[in-house]
Amino acid sequence: MRIMRLHEYGEPAVLHLDETPPPVPGAGELLLRTEAIGVTLPAVRQARGDGDRAPLPRGLGGEVAGTVLAVGSQVTDYQVGDRVTAVAFADAYADLVTVPTATASPIPEHADSAQAVALVRSGHVALAALATADPRPDESVLITGAASGVGHLALRLAKIRGIGRVVAAVGSAAKTTFVRDLGADEAVVYDDVDWGEPVDVVLDAVGGDLLPRALAGLRPGGRLIYFNSGGGTVPAHTLLAGSTTITGMTIRRFATTHPDLYQRHDELLWQLHATGRLRPSIHAELPLTDAAAALRIIEARTNLGKVVLRP
Ligand SMILES: NC(=O)c1ccc[n+]([C@@H]2O[C@H](COP(=O)([O-])OP(=O)(O)OC[C@H]3O[C@@H](n4cnc5c(N)ncnc54)[C@H](OP(=O)(O)O)[C@@H]3O)[C@@H](O)[C@H]2O)c1
Repeated sequence: MRIMRLHEYGEPAVLHLDETPPPVPGAGELLLRTEAIGVTLPAVRQARGDGDRAPLPRGLGGEVAGTVLAVGSQVTDYQVGDRVTAVAFADAYADLVTVPTATASPIPEHADSAQAVALVRSGHVALAALATADPRPDESVLITGAASGVGHLALRLAKIRGIGRVVAAVGSAAKTTFVRDLGADEAVVYDDVDWGEPVDVVLDAVGGDLLPRALAGLRPGGRLIYFNSGGGTVPAHTLLAGSTTITGMTIRRFATTHPDLYQRHDELLWQLHATGRLRPSIHAELPLTDAAAALRIIEARTNLGKVVLRP
């Protein structure tokens, strides 16, 4: 099979096209022929060697949509020929991948694979972040990274949920029209001195140096949902004066702690898609062999929505 792998850590250009034997699905796994692969910020960080430095050559993790070619033992929910989206924690940038069924969701007939991977994978994260904050319609929500694959869907889903004031925070002025067109009531750029009135909820898709600023944008009693891969540090005492809270959220854990809600979110995403109320923006679709270029788009922070590879 064809797979894009790292042969050294560094810039995304260090991804190479390799031919390797196809993987064999283990217990509880599916073998998929990929039709679309979602490119994410964590993959850029993996390529740079931030965090874990697994032995080389190695593949990157990612989100995939494809058709089931084989099922491992103990798989009862899926069969050969089904189309699913799922998460491949390693070796995702390939035309064949194995995925755990625990991450898999069926794709409705005729749905496009790029739409499926963008809608379901990023949509689940956006919905889980919103569910964790559980804002009332009369509360306000600020979303950082609001033009990202997850962020732009969180913005749409907050408006669909009836939130009266949704503030989209983005890294550059070039993104403000995009987020306003999606329904943001206000758009701010991180460098702006004034982010407007404080908010009840921050959904933080960025973290890092922006975390203290995002926290400072909360009203007393406000809550920040931290679901990014950007790190960041806040002195604990900054939570005292306003009794603000920070809650971490990963979709991996959310899916296991809230299985029924996760299932309902799956259905909700496709319902909203079918009625045209939620359509992920696909910023770019590139061939698998252009994976380095796809990662560079994310690294340059220019994407408006999702970046997808087509094997
Ligand atoms: N908790 C979970 O389970 C979970 C699951 C999936 C994704 N996530 C997180 O959600 C966030 C958004 O992910 P995504 O896949 O939607 O992003 P994406 O589509 O890959 O978009 C990347 C965007 O993130 C922003 N960004 C912030 N810091 C950056 C950096 N150091 N380098 C490059 N871009 C940076 C940039 O927008 P601006 O310049 O406008 O900020 C960039 O355009 C990430 O932090 C990711 O780790 C969490």
